[in-house]
Amino acid sequence: MTRFVAALERSGLAEFLADFPGDSVDRLQWAAATRGLDGELRALAGFLLLGEPAAADRLPAALAQALPALVGSGVAVRRGDEVRLVDVSLFRSAGVWLFAEPPSPFPVRHYFGRDSVALARRTGCRAGDRVLDLCSGPGFQGLVAAQRGAGATLVELLPETAEVARLNAEINGMDDRIEVLVGDLYDPLPTGVEPYDRVIANVPFLPTLSARGEEAAHEGGEDGFGIGRRVLAGLPRHLAAGGTAHLTGLLLQADRELVIGGELRAWAAENGYGLTVTLTERMAVDADSDLVQTTVSDHLETDPQADPEELTAAAVGMYARRGATAARLAYLRIDGGMADFRILDRAPG
Ligand SMILES: C[S@@+](CC[C@H](N)C(=O)[O-])C[C@H]1O[C@@H](n2cnc3c(N)ncnc32)[C@H](O)[C@@H]1O
Repeated sequence: MTRFVAALERSGLAEFLADFPGDSVDRLQWAAATRGLDGELRALAGFLLLGEPAAADRLPAALAQALPALVGSGVAVRRGDEVRLVDVSLFRSAGVWLFAEPPSPFPVRHYFGRDSVALARRTGCRAGDRVLDLCSGPGFQGLVAAQRGAGATLVELLPETAEVARLNAEINGMDDRIEVLVGDLYDPLPTGVEPYDRVIANVPFLPTLSARGEEAAHEGGEDGFGIGRRVLAGLPRHLAAGGTAHLTGLLLQADRELVIGGELRAWAAENGYGLTVTLTERMAVDADSDLVQTTVSDHLETDPQADPEELTAAAVGMYARRGATAARLAYLRIDGGMADFRILDRAPG
């Protein structure tokens, strides 16, 4: 597999991708830029970035040799002589190669988003660190940590996504310092495992609507911070003294106050942690807002019989019951060995 990536780098694809800023993973931009390519590089970009089918016997040798592993990991399908990637692209961000789904307004199985890049920028892992990447998806946070010389344990709920994370570790030549476990947050860790220097969790945060009952893998519980809360609850046991944790979260705001500001402050004080909450993007929570409409369409994907109007009312009602006037995309940094609480608002409105 490392031969596959070495061949890719020589093919010019790494050069092509290097001209896109770190967080612009976007098929439309790639498609526009590939118009300037020709020959083998155009065919590779079409196959790996744009999801175009290709004739298996015309692929470059290193890619053809990697095909059985790609098909085995579920990122490619082969029908007769034709192969194509399924949902994912293969791209490079922050110096690591990643099979993942480019950002989309619809729920995806193998997530990568602007929040992935923003979170990775905040995590200063060092060589020798032991890192726990919860909600790993296809593995971006763990891969960035391992690229800096850390050893990373990744935990992902969906077995098929964990398989993609394993493939990503392999193509980056990092499978000797990355392990991928399948399960719910801390559950798959061995009993008595040593605490970690860094815990990183880009948790799902679309609110779960009670109309359907069960929670899908890309949902974050009743107020969107349900999984975040469970990650925080496990830190006293799994974060080493003096260690650091980094989380994303959707936090509700009632005018200028964070709805769970008091809860977070009390949690930090009780456990002796420094907690810095950085508030970024502000999202509206009314019936027509992108957040509510994304939540509704997300539920309709798995429960097509549900009534969109009832789902909209359930989502708006959830925000109203909590007095929320907006939702904020937030990054939480937790430092062991200090007791402190602060909020950095990057988009005060
Ligand atoms: C927002 S994606 C984050 C992907 C990746 N860490 C990143 O930063 O790009 C969240 C991932 O968490 C997984 N997930 C959801 N609930 C989980 C749970 N309880 N335990 C472990 N993983 C979970 C989802 O399947 C999804 O792949």
